[in-house]
Order: sequence, then structure tokens, then C-alpha cells
Amino acid sequence: MSAQHRSPAVQFRLREHPKGSVQPDTWQLTHDEPPAPAPGQVLAQVKMLSVDPGMRGWITAKRSYMPAVQPGEVMRAFGVATVLESQSEHFKPGDHITGFTGVQTVGVMDARNLRKIDLNYASPTDYLSGLGMTGFTAYFGLLDVGKPQPGETVVVSAASGAVGSIAAQIAKIKGCRVIGIAGGETKTAYLRDVLGLDAVIDYKAGDIGAALKAAAPDGVDLYFDNVGGAVLDAVLMQIKRHARIVVCGGISQYADMDNARGPANYLQIVAQSASMRGFTMLDFIDRAPEAFMALLGWKMKGQLIFREHVLRGIESFPTAYDMIFSGANQGKLLIDLEGAPS
Ligand SMILES: NC(=O)c1ccc[n+]([C@@H]2O[C@H](COP(=O)([O-])OP(=O)(O)OC[C@H]3O[C@@H](n4cnc5c(N)ncnc54)[C@H](OP(=O)(O)O)[C@@H]3O)[C@@H](O)[C@H]2O)c1
Repeated sequence: MSAQHRSPAVQFRLREHPKGSVQPDTWQLTHDEPPAPAPGQVLAQVKMLSVDPGMRGWITAKRSYMPAVQPGEVMRAFGVATVLESQSEHFKPGDHITGFTGVQTVGVMDARNLRKIDLNYASPTDYLSGLGMTGFTAYFGLLDVGKPQPGETVVVSAASGAVGSIAAQIAKIKGCRVIGIAGGETKTAYLRDVLGLDAVIDYKAGDIGAALKAAAPDGVDLYFDNVGGAVLDAVLMQIKRHARIVVCGGISQYADMDNARGPANYLQIVAQSASMRGFTMLDFIDRAPEAFMALLGWKMKGQLIFREHVLRGIESFPTAYDMIFSGANQGKLLIDLEGAPS
């Protein structure tokens, strides 16, 4: 693809750091022509975008694991793109890449935030879900941080989502008894009937504590937490002695990051001599090839299903962002920029 044949440049920029929930005017749709790439940059055409809960943290002006997006900047996003022009020795026109592409159809990107991919191995959707950051998060969070042992009882929250569904399936592959927590009958049915989890809990349907006690009468060895809040508190009341809690995320607290609350039942960690450890996938980025090969192997053997929910057209970005927080996404939420708008 040459620069002359690229699609018109469209971007979503951050208008201002939101106070409380993200509103439609948090974003600004612009049609700015990108500049020529500077040394160390590429100009690339974006094919596919990933929409992530972590975006809420990226637009919060608070200490985090990476600098906040500033007002006026193109919104940060993972994506898959094709290089049009390169000022980097690592990439040439026609190369397919993944990394921080930003919420834009075409634009200039820093080469240090990108890596080359081979679309003969996997599709753009897979590179952004199970064979990309999402899969790597589940892989390292569950295996390296959580260290599941065969026969253990593992609980995963947001279990039908992008990271959760992969973490739950890896725990099954490792011989654990897996309990998935998700919101609503459609999602719990998916976990039970398609992924074959041992027990499922709809946290919107009633007393999570009672449901957990029934599903794990001997207690929980390992909890892979994606949500925090009331679900974390309920699980803490059921942990076994020396249990491990892996803090992957806390989406229930993201709506108002300035007033995020920790667990009320944290003294259970003392009472049960348990441990609670957070991580970011970037801690393990040097081992990404190992995770890629393991995840690909399980997928090819039919042991791992990647569930993807794809919207079309860059205009769907604000809707997609809201879907993550309302729970309307059924699996890894992506935006295809090449198809007709949905
Ligand atoms: N540590 C890392 O490096 C890393 C990397 C990637 C992602 N993460 C974290 O992993 C978690 C899952 O991310 P994902 O990309 O896989 O998203 P996802 O699970 O595909 O989508 C988010 C899901 O969260 C659930 N949710 C939303 N609001 C909630 C609330 N108030 N209480 C409970 N559940 C709620 C919804 O499912 P239900 O319908 O079931 O409620 C929603 O579908 C997030 O916390 C994210 O920040 C961490």
C-alpha cells in the first residue's frame, strides 16, 4: 500500500482529563493530515484497534505505569497497522506492525512502541486478543504471578471478557478447578457451555458470597481479579490459608479513579496468611515470544478459544469505550478500520 492510496486521516483526541465518568465530550474527532515521520518514526495505516479498560487509566492525570495522554493528543490505543513510510531502520513500507498505533486511521507512530508481525501466522484480531497483549496478560498473570497447581480451586472475575476468558482456560489446561464470575445469563452460559468451566457465578444475580461458598466449599486457592470492589470482597471471605490473589485490574473502580476504594475485607489476607500481588503485562514484555508460542500451541490444539467482539469504523470508538464499562462487550473488543462502519 502506498501513501497515495491511504484512507483519509481521522483521529480521536483527548479533549480533557475526565473528572468521574468519561462523557461524549471527553473525546474530539479531528481530520488532521499527519506530518511526515521524523527519525525514529513511521507513518502507518491502521487496520484494527483494541479497546481496553486500561484506557481509563491512560487518560487520568495520576501516577501510573506510563505517562497520561495529554489534552489534544491522539488517544493511545493498541492496534495493528501497515507501514506506509519509514524513518526507522527496523521497519520498511509494507511491513505489518502492532503496538501503540493510537485511535486514528493513519498517523505517525514512534517505532520504539511497535513490533513487526507476520499475518501468515495469525490474523490482526488474534494479534490484538489471544496472541497479543490480552493473551500475554492472562498468561503471565496467571502462570508467573498466580502459579496455579493441578487440583487447586481458581476463581476468575470478568471471566467471559478478553483477559479473563483466557486466564480461565489456561487454569483449566493446568488441571485446576475453575470458577468463573461474570455478569448476566448470556456470559455465564458461555463460560459453562462453551468454555466448560466447573462452576459459574452471575455476580449481578444475587449474593456472590453465598454462591461462592456453594461453588467452592473448601475455599479458594487462587483468585485472578479483574474487577476489585464487591466481588473482591466476597472472594476474600472464601480464600484458603496461603491463598494467592493476582490483581490484574479493578474495573469496578475505574469510573472514578480519584476515589478508587480498596477492599473492605483485606484483613482476610492477614488471617489466612495470603498474598496479593499486582502486575502489568509490561513487566514480562521480554518474554512475549514464549507466551505467543504457548498460546498459539493451545489454540492450534483446540484447547483455547479467543472470543472477539468486532465493531467497524473509527467513529464507533466512543461507543466501544462505553461498552467495556457497561459490560456490553462479549469478548475482546476490537474496531475494524478497514470494513464499512457498523
Ligand atoms: N495488568 C495488566 O497488564 C492488564 C492488561 C490488560 C487488562 N488488564 C485488566 O484486566 C481487566 C479485564 O480487561 P479486558 O481487556 O479483558 O476487558 P473485558 O473483560 O473484555 O471487558 C471488561 C468487562 O468488565 C466487566 N465489568 C465492567 N464494569 C464492571 C464492574 N463495575 N464490576 C464488575 N465487572 C465489571 C464487564 O463484564 P461483566 O458483564 O461480566 O460485568 C466487561 O465486559 C481490566 O481490569 C483491565 O484493566 C490488566
